Amino acid sequence: MRRKPIVAIDGPAGAGKSTIAKIVARELGFLYIDTGAMYRAMTWKMLKCKVNFKDENKIIQIANKTNIELKQLKDKLKVSVDGTDVTKKIRTEIITKNVNTIAAIQGVRKVLRSKQHKIGQKGGIVMEGRDIGTTVFPSAEKKFYLDAKPKERALRRWKELKAEGKRGSLENIAAAIRKRDYRDRNRRVSPLIKAKDAIVIDSTALTLHQVAQKILNEINKP
Ligand code: DC
Repeated sequence: MRRKPIVAIDGPAGAGKSTIAKIVARELGFLYIDTGAMYRAMTWKMLKCKVNFKDENKIIQIANKTNIELKQLKDKLKVSVDGTDVTKKIRTEIITKNVNTIAAIQGVRKVLRSKQHKIGQKGGIVMEGRDIGTTVFPSAEKKFYLDAKPKERALRRWKELKAEGKRGSLENIAAAIRKRDYRDRNRRVSPLIKAKDAIVIDSTALTLHQVAQKILNEINKP
């Protein structure tokens, strides 16, 4: 039997990747993997160890010994680090601020990439991140690059925070997204770029369900 496809979804922060990837995975009965959560989990571990962020060798050494697990529970993805549930802890501001530094270290990416490979190689997976279609699974059967105008992405993030009872000025959120975009796109290793064969979807004027439907239509094309 042919193995089920690998679906890669990449794009900048706030383009709606997680929600859309979850819908697509549910509809297809595929496993959903959020690779950003893995980088966040690694960042949580480094902060917990109080490692000097300039000491790359030490960071890589710790990364090699860290056990990150993702477990799908209904619509949620439970993330644990060495047995500790960090699902909520990895969504805090301090992690968001520091994750780019950890994600820019080649040795850390190597560790996580090998884990992502193991999880996805059998197919039947929707994996989202920044470098899935370019580096992790360059031969994925279906690749998508999701984007949206920066203003819209900031507004979505602002609404998300509001729904969680948190506050933040739209200006500050937009500035933080700009900074993260810049760092993701300009880092030396595995920067965020569109894979040549990825289908680009601009979600600025679309609902999340409309985007998910577009992706499903592409996947189901004979
Ligand atoms: O998707 P996210 O915002 O939760 O990802 C957090 C950070 O992790 C993001 O700023 C860049 C990094 N990341 C990465 O470098 N490569 C991936 N495949 C996924 C995320």
